[in-house]
Amino acid sequence: MKKEAKELVIPQHVGIIMDGNGRWAKKRGLPRSVGHTYGAKTFKNITRIISRKGVKYLTLYAFSTENWKRPLEEVSALMKIFRQYLIESLTDFREDDIKVNFIGDRSAFAPDIIRLIEETEEVAKNRKGMQLNIAMNYGGRDEIVNAVRILLKDNVLPEQLTAQDISSRLYTAGQPDPDLIIRTGGEHRLSNFMLFQAAYTEFYSTDTLWPDFKEEDFDKAILVFNQRNRRFGGV
Ligand code: IPE
Ligand code: IPE
Ligand code: MG
Repeated sequence: MKKEAKELVIPQHVGIIMDGNGRWAKKRGLPRSVGHTYGAKTFKNITRIISRKGVKYLTLYAFSTENWKRPLEEVSALMKIFRQYLIESLTDFREDDIKVNFIGDRSAFAPDIIRLIEETEEVAKNRKGMQLNIAMNYGGRDEIVNAVRILLKDNVLPEQLTAQDISSRLYTAGQPDPDLIIRTGGEHRLSNFMLFQAAYTEFYSTDTLWPDFKEEDFDKAILVFNQRNRRFGGV
């Protein structure tokens, strides 16, 4: 008997913790910065591929609030890659109609990077395709602290405070919580990514290092996601 192929559910919001650039370079005897350069190539390719699969929101973790702890040489190399990426992204995502939004505390970046971030958001603001959130100097705790500051300024009464009041003051305000978070590089932790939003997110970890991550790795994650039974605390 022929088995009916069941249609795959494409998650509405996917988050990716893009880890493993340094190890990828080390394996090849190259400096870590070369791993980041290749990671940036994967970033661009995979964004386009995912947008064509029907994902509505994609959040990519590019630089955490803790990544400033790295040697100055590596941080400088990353800033150079961001600059280059931002200049290219001004035109890059036009054909796929991708809307770009940066989440995190951008005030810590150099003024020219901040300008490029603003320009990138501005040129893409009326696009109708996938919403791409790039998490830069992003930390889940920092995001919650920032939301609490806004709540206090808004004089929200303690006894009236709801989870929705907090969600609507996060960097991802107005967006659905992630359905799936993929982490490359084999670790099984969130490393401060989307702490408030990830309450019921499915977590998928792959040993593939970020520069090696391809369409088939993403498809595998979607397949595994489709085998999960999400209960949200119910039965
Ligand atoms: C992820 O790769 C990129 C950033 C955190 C900026 P890593 O640089 O953390 O690579 P590994 O984990 O050391 O291999
Ligand atoms: C998480 O990776 C941050 C990003 C991918 C941007 P890290 O390499 O910084 O995380 P840890 O140190 O392994 O937890
Ligand atoms: Mg890492």
